Amino acid sequence: MKQGEPVCQTKQGSARALSLALSLRDRLTQLHSERVLGLSALIGRRCALEPAAMAVLRLAACFHDIGKIGVPDHILLKPARFDPEEWDVMKGHAEMGQRIIAETGLAGADEAARVIRHHHEHYDGSGYPDGLAGEAIPFCSRIISIADSYDAMAESRPYHPLRSHSQIMDILQQESGGKHDPDLMRLFCQLIESSDFKPHALYPSAEGRETGLLP
Ligand SMILES: [Fe+2]
Repeated sequence: MKQGEPVCQTKQGSARALSLALSLRDRLTQLHSERVLGLSALIGRRCALEPAAMAVLRLAACFHDIGKIGVPDHILLKPARFDPEEWDVMKGHAEMGQRIIAETGLAGADEAARVIRHHHEHYDGSGYPDGLAGEAIPFCSRIISIADSYDAMAESRPYHPLRSHSQIMDILQQESGGKHDPDLMRLFCQLIESSDFKPHALYPSAEGRETGLLP
């Protein structure tokens, strides 16, 4: 699989249908998922994951936010920060994603579902849904967490400005050991500098890029 390839589209059957469903519901989440997949695969390859583990990583990264299909529009598409009740609903996407992928019957789906459940856990135990910490968090979940954070910050959102690569890396460094696995973060810092996934290569320029959510 080549870096930058829209890998979600190379999957077959139910995976393609799920990818289409997410795209129809929220195109920006779908595009984000494809970039997170590329970044996650980059890290996974550097970690020399076995082919079966790479397949799980790809499946989980591609569909890490598929549970957002179950989040109501007024929350999913809200162009502002969530209030506490809305945030609780949004956090449910991790468990909903687990349930959806577990039902697909795809190879590696059970393990990918577990990875998806835990993609918002924090290394220090402050994440959700289960407050897992350190190596209790599935390895692939820790990889996806870094890729997800990087890409989310590289996009402009209604509630935060566009950030430069160096600004993103400063924030990620501050989160190392708290939100993120420090060993994986060190690896990521080396990888990203020579990859095509830095914002100047992957994302439209600040001047030309769309902001906000789809209408
Ligand atoms: Fe997520």
